Amino acid sequence: MTLPPAASLHHGAESFYQRWQQLNDWLVQHRDFWQPAPFMTPEPAWAKAYPQLTAMLAELTDAECQHLDDAPIELAARVSRWLPSLEAYADLVQLPELLPSAEKALEATLPEIRATDMPGRKRLQSGAFAAALTPLEHSALDWCCGKGHLSRTLAPFCPGEIQGLEWNPELVRDGNRLAEHFGDRVSIGCQDVMAAELALPGNHHGVALHACGDLHRQLLKRGSEAGLPRLSISPCCYHLTDQTIYRPLSRRASGYQKALQPGRNDLRLAVQETVTAPARVREQTRRISQWRLGFDGLQRFLRGHDEYLPVPSHPARLLNEGFPAFCHWAAAKKHLELPDPVDFDFWLSFGERRLAEVRRHELVRHLFRRPLELWMVFDYAIYLEEQGYRVRLGQFCDRALTPRNLLLDAVRVSDTLPVQHSHP
Ligand SMILES: C[S@@+](CC[C@H](N)C(=O)[O-])C[C@H]1O[C@@H](n2cnc3c(N)ncnc32)[C@H](O)[C@@H]1O
Repeated sequence: MTLPPAASLHHGAESFYQRWQQLNDWLVQHRDFWQPAPFMTPEPAWAKAYPQLTAMLAELTDAECQHLDDAPIELAARVSRWLPSLEAYADLVQLPELLPSAEKALEATLPEIRATDMPGRKRLQSGAFAAALTPLEHSALDWCCGKGHLSRTLAPFCPGEIQGLEWNPELVRDGNRLAEHFGDRVSIGCQDVMAAELALPGNHHGVALHACGDLHRQLLKRGSEAGLPRLSISPCCYHLTDQTIYRPLSRRASGYQKALQPGRNDLRLAVQETVTAPARVREQTRRISQWRLGFDGLQRFLRGHDEYLPVPSHPARLLNEGFPAFCHWAAAKKHLELPDPVDFDFWLSFGERRLAEVRRHELVRHLFRRPLELWMVFDYAIYLEEQGYRVRLGQFCDRALTPRNLLLDAVRVSDTLPVQHSHP
């Protein structure tokens, strides 16, 4: 199959391993900036150690804050005035674009009339993903395919049939109905992809658009062990894993002595982005965050203990019942007795002030989201190389369409089957 020149596979002359190592060391060096969550830690140690940086952040307006949160390279350049090690940021996160052109994406996107049940963004993401992969040279296996939106998008470009795997029977039924209705060569099987006895069909191109955490890692492992000719994966939700401390997949990265050992909460940072959330959802998140921080101040005061108390997720109805109702509910959950009266207006304003501070401190933490995500995905690329694949890693669509816009595209080049690993 035709592959792009080697220079676009790797960043300049650097190998995936070199990129991974740079990211690893940089993340380790800066862990005090990204490990403490400002929501739970009112004054992170870095804020005290870098008072001028903290003062610059405090002076930002809400609009500037929003702008910088969506423009990490610009923010890193500003912060590097006090933290020169951030000058490397733009290079660290730089990746090739894998989408050939906007026209190609449009050509590969299902027309709306054929996109029944397909949310608008999913239609465009699937089109961009398909355009980045064409030409296709094998039948395809769509891993965790839902209703088969990606399968149906890929079908016109695929020389063979597309087989989808999905474990939710309703999605399987709806997906098969859609494929039949529109005459697409797609059939979806009801299957738990984590099942040890699952046998992968040989000579299929494995594709996965936004299969979460261990699900996409399973395709990396099982697909490469089965020697599938090509694997194309856009990963998401890295933190959904049964491992408490995450270990890299590749032999080289996991053998690196100074390898980061992130826990699930650390990994969650990699996907903490709301760029695609509608304004109404952003406003609800703002309100509930203010209430939670207001309650946090109140509970620290009442308990005389300066420590964050995690409160479980709230029922949706509480959003319409106001801050005092939220505090009563949260106090009951934590077996705390609220005095009568409570100055709710005071604690609500406290929550507002804390939220403004959290937003500004989080700006710094958010700078580490993409590096952490790349730390995960560069390891996947090294793993696939170790398994005999030639790998492209880059972005398949604009971040505004989905922040999970990375694509790993691996073509098997070695004829020897890789070493088999045992599965849980
Ligand atoms: C985030 S959705 C992505 C769906 C589809 N790839 C798309 O982009 O529209 C993840 C899908 O994985 C399915 N899933 C979760 N765990 C699974 C498992 N163990 N086996 C098979 N499918 C699973 C879910 O039901 C869901 O449809």
